[in-house]
Amino acid sequence: MSKKRVVYEGKAKILYEGPEPGTLIQYFKDDATAFNAQKKAVLDGKGVLNNRISEFMMTRLGAVGIPTHFIRRLNMREQLIKKVEIIPLEVVVRNIAAGTLSKRLGIEEGQVLPRPMVEFYFKDDALGDPLVTEEHIAAFGWAGPQEYDDLISLALRVNDFMSGLFAAVGIRLVDFKLEFGRYFEGDSEMPRILLADEISPDSCRLWDFDTGEKLDKDRFRRDLGGVTEAYAEVARRLGIIKESGETDNVVSFTGGK
Ligand SMILES: Nc1ncnc2c1ncn2[C@@H]1O[C@H](COP(=O)(O)OP(=O)(O)OP(=O)(O)O)[C@@H](O)[C@H]1O
Ligand SMILES: [Mg+2]
Repeated sequence: MSKKRVVYEGKAKILYEGPEPGTLIQYFKDDATAFNAQKKAVLDGKGVLNNRISEFMMTRLGAVGIPTHFIRRLNMREQLIKKVEIIPLEVVVRNIAAGTLSKRLGIEEGQVLPRPMVEFYFKDDALGDPLVTEEHIAAFGWAGPQEYDDLISLALRVNDFMSGLFAAVGIRLVDFKLEFGRYFEGDSEMPRILLADEISPDSCRLWDFDTGEKLDKDRFRRDLGGVTEAYAEVARRLGIIKESGETDNVVSFTGGK
């Protein structure tokens, strides 16, 4: 399908060398993994949906002044992005208790948090992406003090914007994970921080406002079924794919390579 040089193959995406220096092509696979890749499956059409949903989010965020790596979508599964040096932190924002927060602190899933919380996890699969504090980040130099402040304020801006966007289509943004990177423009030594990676139902918890139905990767983690259908429902509500959201529609929509 493609003779481009692979720069990196991860669990959900492949990065290829881009057409110009400083660019990459991000290819969205159908592979799904959970619990640090102990659980695996192929979900037909997931990559196509995530490519479109991430394009939508990055474009909207760019329009309100959040700098992102997104340049343009190339086809059903690929987008052109700016190549960054990934900051080795997963930046998680939480509005409602769920997942590891509930488990670790015994806070009931679904409890609205008194304010949005930003957490940092060290990106290291071998260690299981452990929660880290500002102390670790500073002492080990994963991000500088200014970068640390920028990560928090960018993450909160993304949260405000996306919470509103989802609320408008009847979805609660429970929590999500972001990755950021340093972009070296020309021969400037001062990198700019860009929002990188993806924003999709793989990286967000999304609950239907009225029914509480999960419309995200928890459907896969918890064997609830209808994973791709739920992602398609998110895309449909956002106006990315047309009406109905029937499985037929999903199949024809995601039928591309
Ligand atoms: N603009 C970018 N420039 C460089 N690398 C990027 C960019 N955006 C995302 N990445 C990286 O590309 C990879 C995407 O692949 P994928 O999401 O499948 O990885 P993964 O299996 O989750 O592994 P990882 O632990 O490395 O995130 C990730 O490592 C991510 O950090
Ligand atoms: Mg990833």
